[in-house]
Amino acid sequence: MTARPIIELRNLSKSFGAVQALRGIDATIREGEFFSLLGPSGCGKTTLLRMIAGFEAPSGGSIVIDGKPMDGIPANHRPTNMVFQSYAIFPHLSVAGNVGYGLKRKKLSRAEIAAEVEAALEKVDLAGYGSRAAHELSGGQRQRVALARALVMRPKVVLLDEPLSALDKKLREQMQVELRALQQSLGITFILVTHDQEEALIMSDRIAVMFDGQIAQMASPEELYRTPRTRRVASFIGVMNFLPARMKGESPEGIEIDIPALGSARIPRDRVPEGLRPERIESIGIRPEMLTILFDEANSAEREAEGQVVANSYYGDMTYYDVRLAGQEAQVTISMRNTAGRSVARPGTTVRVGWGAESVVLFD
Ligand SMILES: Nc1ncnc2c1ncn2[C@@H]1O[C@H](COP(=O)(O)OP(=O)(O)OP(=O)(O)O)[C@@H](O)[C@H]1O
Ligand SMILES: [Mg+2]
Repeated sequence: MTARPIIELRNLSKSFGAVQALRGIDATIREGEFFSLLGPSGCGKTTLLRMIAGFEAPSGGSIVIDGKPMDGIPANHRPTNMVFQSYAIFPHLSVAGNVGYGLKRKKLSRAEIAAEVEAALEKVDLAGYGSRAAHELSGGQRQRVALARALVMRPKVVLLDEPLSALDKKLREQMQVELRALQQSLGITFILVTHDQEEALIMSDRIAVMFDGQIAQMASPEELYRTPRTRRVASFIGVMNFLPARMKGESPEGIEIDIPALGSARIPRDRVPEGLRPERIESIGIRPEMLTILFDEANSAEREAEGQVVANSYYGDMTYYDVRLAGQEAQVTISMRNTAGRSVARPGTTVRVGWGAESVVLFD
C-alpha cells in the first residue's frame, strides 16, 4: 500500500503518576487503512486512542495528524471522532437527536442538519429511524447510531474503542463484517481498539500488538499469524505449540534445527526472520493446523512423528486433539477437520503425526 500517512506517532509516551501507560510508541497509520490496536487489558490501548483523539496530553513524543502537529490542539479541533464502548448514545434523545448532536455547534440550519443526519443514518443502514427513541433500539442498532454520530462530523479518522464488546457473539460477528464493509466503502481511516484477536484478524489491514505500553509487532493479519516475532505475540494470536529446539548448523541456504519431539528440519533462509540470532533459539512454534494426524495407513507427510492422543475437544466441524509425542514430555495441540467417514479418536489411541519444515516458526 502506498497511501500517504494520516497519523504519525513518534516516540510517544504517557505516565499517570508512577504508572507508565505508554512507552516509546512509533507508528505510521495510512490514509484509508483499517488499523487495530490489539493487546491484553491494561496494555495502554485506550490511552493511546484518547491521546490521538485529544482527550489526553502525551508526556513525551509527538502526534501528527494529516500533516499537522497536534500539540495543544483540543479534541474538537482535530479531524478525528471517537466511538465509545458503551453508554455511547444519549438514551433520552431520539436517534436523530443523537446523530445531529455534534452538528448543533456548527451553525447549520435545521434543514441542513436534518439532511446530514439522514445521510449518516443511511450510511449505517438506519434510514428512516430518526424519530425513534434511542432506548427503543437493539444493541447493534445503538452501536450503529453511535457510528453515525461520529460519521456525521465528516472525520478523517474514526477512533473506535471496543465498539462491539457489549454485543453477543452472533451480533458481534455480523457487525464486524458490516463495519469493515462500511469502512471500505467510505474510504475513511478507522482505528479500532480490541482485546479480541479474532476480531482484529478479521477486520484489519494492519494490527499493532501491544504489551505493557509498547508495540511488540505491527503487521498485516496474515503476517502476524504466520510469522509472529516473539513467543508472546505468537501465543496471543491464535493457538501456538511451542517445542524445545536448538540450532544444529547454519549455511547460506538456511539453518538446520533440531527439534527433539519431532526431528530435525532445514529452515530455508526466506523463512528465517530478519535479525534473528539462530544460536539463541530455544524453542520453535508450530500451529495446530500445520500438524496432521495421519489416520489413514495410506496417508503420508514430509516428516512423521509418533504420538498418543491425551484428550480431544469436539467442535462439530473440527476436533482439537492434545497429543503427547513419543518419548517426550512435550504435548501438542492438533486441529483436524472432521470428515464424513471418520469418528473422533479417543484418548489412548496411538497416532502418526505429520508435519513439514515450512510451517516451523522461529523465535530467538
Ligand atoms: N486516568 C488514569 N489515571 C491513572 N492510571 C491510568 C489512567 N488511565 C489509565 N491508567 C493506567 O494506564 C494503563 C493503561 O490503561 P488503558 O486504559 O490504556 O488500558 P487498555 O489497554 O485500554 O485496557 P482494557 O483492555 O482493560 O481497556 C493501566 O495500567 C491503567 O491502570
Ligand atoms: Mg481500554
